[in-house]
Amino acid sequence: MSTIAVLGAGKIGEALLSGLLHSGRPASELCFTERHPERAAELTRRYGVESVSVGDAAKRADVLVVAVKPQDIEPLLAELAPLIGPDSLVVSLCAGLPTALYERRLPEGTPVVRVMPNTPMLVNEAMSAVSAGRYATPEHVRTVAAVLSSVGKVVEVPESQQDAVTALSGSGPAYFFYLVEAMIDAGILLGLPRAVAEQLIVQSAVGAAKMLADSDEHPVILRENVTSPAGTTINAIRELEKHGVRAALLAAIEAARDRSVELGRAHED
Ligand SMILES: NC(=O)c1ccc[n+]([C@@H]2O[C@H](COP(=O)([O-])OP(=O)(O)OC[C@H]3O[C@@H](n4cnc5c(N)ncnc54)[C@H](OP(=O)(O)O)[C@@H]3O)[C@@H](O)[C@H]2O)c1
Repeated sequence: MSTIAVLGAGKIGEALLSGLLHSGRPASELCFTERHPERAAELTRRYGVESVSVGDAAKRADVLVVAVKPQDIEPLLAELAPLIGPDSLVVSLCAGLPTALYERRLPEGTPVVRVMPNTPMLVNEAMSAVSAGRYATPEHVRTVAAVLSSVGKVVEVPESQQDAVTALSGSGPAYFFYLVEAMIDAGILLGLPRAVAEQLIVQSAVGAAKMLADSDEHPVILRENVTSPAGTTINAIRELEKHGVRAALLAAIEAARDRSVELGRAHED
């Protein structure tokens, strides 16, 4: 593996650059493209990674990681198509965009791997799901999985499951942040200083996440262990059930899946 170019160094593109550097990849094996010169200069100053044109990225890198918003994909692919060679591997991080879109716009036979990552990539704790496009070989998928496993965990799924993955783990961190925000508000309601409420909830979230990751117990068992008969937790659980929190999560994640499908449809020919 030599050079990786990130095309579109916004939130997720920056998270990938930062995560790869954290994991020990030298800055000289990375480059990125960015529309705003001030942001490009800021990223180079922060990470020591060079900002290049799309043309230079295509020449220099063997792995081209597309990290623009789905609505910005068409002009980027039009720019990229005449520039890439048969050895370029294209990796899409874009929610909802099928590999078939890339395959139609890029030269015949271009290998494409679709990935749904998430922002905990910034702290080397990403969850990424990878799917091979029509021309991507198992070796291409292994290459992409190896890159992503240096910034978190990786699973391979059929591309038909990527909209569900997008709704679950792509957007997933936002649901946890939302929950933490609401629980901090509850602390304020109960009269705790904001800083104390924040510390209590963030550390509880870190501890709970660690228990979920490290123990073999099902989440139900972990929750039951904190739910003693006639205790405080069961009173809270009753309210969560009464307010339909479980149903709200199911509906919310289904809505996120539907939006991912819709984003993909917007790019059908
Ligand atoms: N954020 C997440 O949690 C997350 C998780 C999983 C997947 N994703 C996927 O990752 C992709 C990027 O999301 P994001 O949240 O990182 O968006 P973002 O912060 O808007 O980043 C996209 C960046 O690409 C730049 N850009 C657009 N067209 C370009 C071009 N032709 N050449 C160079 N740079 C270009 C944008 O510039 P401007 O500022 O001028 O628009 C922006 O800086 C999306 O497709 C999204 O579906 C995001």
